[in-house]
Parts: sequence; structure tokens; C-alpha cells
Amino acid sequence: MDDLSTIRSEALSAVSTATDLAALEAARVAVLGKKGSVTGLMKTLGGLAPDQRKEFGAKVNQLKGEIEQALDARRSTLGASELASRLNSDRVDVSLPARPEGQGTLHPIGQVMDEVAAIFGEMGFTWADGPDIEDDWHNFTALNIPPDHPARQMQDTFYLPSRADGTPMVLRTHTSPVQARTMLNPDVHKMLADGGSLRIIVPGRTYRIDNDATHTPMFHQVEGLVLDRATHMGHLKGCLVDFCRAFFEIDDLPLRFRPSYFPFTEPSAEVDIGCSWKDGELRIGAGDSWLEILGSGMVHPNVIRNCGLDPAVYQGFAFGMGIDRIAMLKYGINDLRAFFDSDLRWLRHYGFSALEWPSLTQGLGR
Ligand code: DAH
Repeated sequence: MDDLSTIRSEALSAVSTATDLAALEAARVAVLGKKGSVTGLMKTLGGLAPDQRKEFGAKVNQLKGEIEQALDARRSTLGASELASRLNSDRVDVSLPARPEGQGTLHPIGQVMDEVAAIFGEMGFTWADGPDIEDDWHNFTALNIPPDHPARQMQDTFYLPSRADGTPMVLRTHTSPVQARTMLNPDVHKMLADGGSLRIIVPGRTYRIDNDATHTPMFHQVEGLVLDRATHMGHLKGCLVDFCRAFFEIDDLPLRFRPSYFPFTEPSAEVDIGCSWKDGELRIGAGDSWLEILGSGMVHPNVIRNCGLDPAVYQGFAFGMGIDRIAMLKYGINDLRAFFDSDLRWLRHYGFSALEWPSLTQGLGR
């Protein structure tokens, strides 16, 4: 009996003083393990007379149950406090970025659109939009491009199935249809009648069946349109000189206006910027060579008339240029197709910081 009460008090005290789960497990093994004190008592049962065995066996079993209960209770207390202290020390810092910071970049096309918008924004232009899937009338007819004009031919244009009402549809071949969409807007008619001036730029996607190092089936343009009662060719020239010098960040960049032809302008001019070639490398700026970068002209009276306005009252200028092309020239990118390959190494090299918004006062590009 003495044995029992000693074993009992020692076992219960080992359980209650165990300070962690490992110490508690050691206490359990010391009592209930293969060589444990209670296990030892169980082993003696076989050598007892049946009567004694029954009586002593019941006591040992009761002791075993008591100790197991104490173990369970202590285990759950220690388990809860260990969990609490782990939760306390293993903090998850939710402010840590899941990925390394600063890995993403702005695509050069988006960057150049923003640079262009920053410059024209300073001149009072707003950004206008139109659909990529355009009807034949806005893309061609409204812009004074007759049905037999080569620009309509299958090799240039992606033709789509006609709409249910029979309207022929295309993927727009230029951003110019947004000129017509804007000039047709009754709010714009009212603004012009009130003596206002229309100034929009239209950056966006354009499509032609073409594919080589300098042409892709999808590319980008920015259109510009100014219309009111007084805008003349001098404004066209001043506006585009200012734009090109600001965009290329070269104050004395020479420009050349060359007579040209577009169905939607009269007169029309193509604009070249000065450049030079040294060891096969292009340098933009005063030099002995010229690079064509945009088309422009005074809006053709037929276009103004097609949009429900009187060409005897309103006049203005328009221009259009390839965003991809001016991005390639400014940032020294020589294969247009790389723009659309989504190669992360290329994007990291040519991409821009998303945190630096282009502006004329803070700086446009890098
Ligand atoms: N739409 C012409 C093109 O895609 C570019 C252009 C030239 C637009 C002259 C104009 C313009 O608005 O006046 O080649």
C-alpha cells in the first residue's frame, strides 16, 4: 500500500510540476512507460493469489486512471500555453510584400502615351476614345476616303463580318475615325457654336495586315484634332514643333514640313525631324539627315461637312503618328515585335517606373 501511495504522490507531483510538454511526456514514461512505476506494479499482479490480485488490481487500475486523467489535464494546459506563446512570438508581418518590391514596370507604349498626353495636356487637349471595331463609314467614308481608295484594299485592312443591318465592319486602320466620331457629337457642335475650340488627342490601338521588324498587325497611333473658327496652318506648325521638341527633349530639334497627300486633309504635310547616323547608330537632333515621324494637315472641308459642320465657318488641323515608332526612336528600340513578346527581361530593361508620372515640370522620360 505504501508503494501505491508513494508512486501516486510522486507521479502526480511530476505531472503537476512539468513545465512543458516534453517534461510531461518524460513524467508519463516514468509512470506508464514500459519500465514505468505503475507498469511495474501491473507486472506484479500475475504473482498474486486470485483474491489479492482482484483487490490490488482494482487499486492499481484506479491509480492508473487517476494519473492518466492528471496527465490529460496537464497536457491540455501546457498545450494551450505553448500555443499562446508561439502565437505571440511567431508574428506574421502582413505589411511585408508577398513579392519583392519594384519588380513591375510600365510598358514603353503606355509610358509614351502618357508622355504624349502630358505634353498635349499642357496645350489644352483632352483625351478622346473610340472603338477598335469600327464601321467602314467612320474609318473611311467620313474621312473622305472614297470606296476605290487603295487604303481600303484587302491587303491593308482586317475586314469583319457585316453587322445585322448590313454595315460593313473593320478593325480600325488608324485613329482618325475618332476625329469623325468627335465632330459628330451634338455637344461638340454646341460647344463650337458657343465659340469654343475643339482640341483632342486620341491614343489607341490600330490594325493592318502587315508583319515585319517595323510593322505588326496591331500597333498604336495617336491622333490629334483642333477645330474652331480661326485655327490655321501656322498653329499646326507651332503645335507640332513644340510637341516634337518637348517629346524628344531636344530644345533646338530641327523640323521639316514636307508637302504630302492625305484624303482627309488639304493641304497636307509630313513632318520630319533632324537626325544623323554615326557608325550605323541613329542620333536624333540637328544633323545631315531627316526622319519622317508624322502626318498632318488642315482638316479637309469634306470631312467637316460629313460631320454636319459648315466648312465655311469651321477650320482646323489634324495629325497622326505611330506611338510605337516614336517610342522606338526615343528609347533606341530597334525591333517593333519586341514590344509584343512579353519577355520579362526586355520589359525590365525597357520598362518604366510606375511611380514616376511623366510631366513637363518633373521630367518626361528618363
Ligand atoms: N491616319 C493617317 C495614317 O494612319 C495618319 C494621319 C495623317 C492622321 C494626317 C491625320 C492626318 O489626322 O491629318 O497614316
